Amino acid sequence: MIVIPGPASQALGQEIARLAKLQVAPIETKHFPDGESRIRFTKNVENEDVIIVQTTSPPQNENLLQLFLMADNAKDLKAKSITAVIPYFAYARQDQRFRYGETFSVKTIVDLLAKCGVNQIITVNSHNPKILSTLSVPIQDLSAVNLLASYFKRQGFDGALSLSLGKKAVAMAAEADKVLQGGYDYISTRRDRVTGKVTLEEKTLPAKNRDVVIFDDIISSGGTMIKAVELVKLQDARRVYAACVHPLLIGDAREKILRSGADGIVGTNCVSSPVSIVSVAPLIAEALSRGT
Ligand code: R5P
Repeated sequence: MIVIPGPASQALGQEIARLAKLQVAPIETKHFPDGESRIRFTKNVENEDVIIVQTTSPPQNENLLQLFLMADNAKDLKAKSITAVIPYFAYARQDQRFRYGETFSVKTIVDLLAKCGVNQIITVNSHNPKILSTLSVPIQDLSAVNLLASYFKRQGFDGALSLSLGKKAVAMAAEADKVLQGGYDYISTRRDRVTGKVTLEEKTLPAKNRDVVIFDDIISSGGTMIKAVELVKLQDARRVYAACVHPLLIGDAREKILRSGADGIVGTNCVSSPVSIVSVAPLIAEALSRGT
């Protein structure tokens, strides 16, 4: 087995290879003057089980295209198998045709990866794990929630209330609560299909004088998290932290969340950002070592 850290996941790919005790096959990469990517494998991949690590956070279209190029290259060069480790899976939120005529983007992306020879995908806290089993490549969806909650425990948040956003995501808060053990709850969210505007239910939470960690899979514009922080703060919570697996933090999302009253934001290195404190490398290395 050899690990190829893609241009978007150089450090994470190296860390995964080190923990899984696998050889790294470095790439040469450059951009042509017009912006196109050129990638070259520097090791022979023939007959190898190849693991390509490439996150697809913004610039997601470029990162995806590089992933297609690398996978297809490994296929052409006769790799034995190709596993794509995609810590943040772009387009996973477009997991159905919400309105007639819309693209079912996650399906299209997985179909393209299958065409490029990918036999298996490993991702982390994908937006809708249920849909993954219906797609054309086997996908293993790992959870980084335990790693995030363990980080908070080490920082003295034992007994904090774990909150998740959206009823469907309550499993996330329940998983965090196994570590933090301060109870868990959720706040229902509703997104307008046309405008994208999110509204949160007004809910009384057991937050008074408590430390609260609000978990979400993704923080993108920050709009959802800001509303949740404000709600919890109004209910006299003590310290309020925003935790997420994928800190996309578009524009000034980080500053806006902190201005809304959050004491801090913690994310994982599925996406590189100033808050990517928790590494998912041990999680992915373990999955590779299990051989799944
Ligand atoms: C939505 O279903 C996700 O779980 C996140 O809550 C959402 O992607 C966050 O987006 P934003 O930060 O733009 O509100």
